Amino acid sequence: MSLIDPSDSTFVIWFTGISGAGKSTIALVVEERLREGGFAVHNLDGDALRHGLNRDLGFSDADRVENIRRVGELARLFNHVGMIVLVAAISPFRAGRDAARELAGPGRFVEVHVDTPLEVAEERDVKGLYKRARSGQLPNFTGIDSPYEAPLHPEVHIDSSFESAEDAADEVFRVLLEMGLVSS
Ligand code: ADX
Repeated sequence: MSLIDPSDSTFVIWFTGISGAGKSTIALVVEERLREGGFAVHNLDGDALRHGLNRDLGFSDADRVENIRRVGELARLFNHVGMIVLVAAISPFRAGRDAARELAGPGRFVEVHVDTPLEVAEERDVKGLYKRARSGQLPNFTGIDSPYEAPLHPEVHIDSSFESAEDAADEVFRVLLEMGLVSS
């Protein structure tokens, strides 16, 4: 008899993009579909984690680096207990996302760039944060006075100013199939 490593069939789907791009919405659709397919899945949302584990962190570059380091480590822990992990976080720095990719292991990290022009996110301004950032009440806001380093070679690229969350989820599943992470 040999032990089965529960992390053998797990992976991380990492949604990155500016605030208001639609990361969490798409992640929820993907999560629901994976669950319907019988997968054990956990959703790590940057916004939600900032109310608990990461509530000691702000939005300086250093704090964002630490935020994403913790999220990457958490993703690995959940993988190790057998869960597929979805992450939705701005994660503005390439180096941080690449470190999370390393932790997940080869072929087990699916980077999804939820791309939307700043003007579109700002126009939508679902949380009213862009208005506050423009008026100087919210310093270090991503895309305004804090950088966002777009992925150079993401596994999935979504233009969320055109695509619905359902279509975006279809695109993610097409790539999961291609990568052999799920079967049809
Ligand atoms: S990250 O840059 O460290 O990855 P994270 O995804 O955890 O960010 O949190 C982003 C969320 O925090 C945004 O969706 C927004 O609701 C909120 N927020 C508050 N202040 C800022 C800011 N200065 N820049 C970006 N997002 C902010």
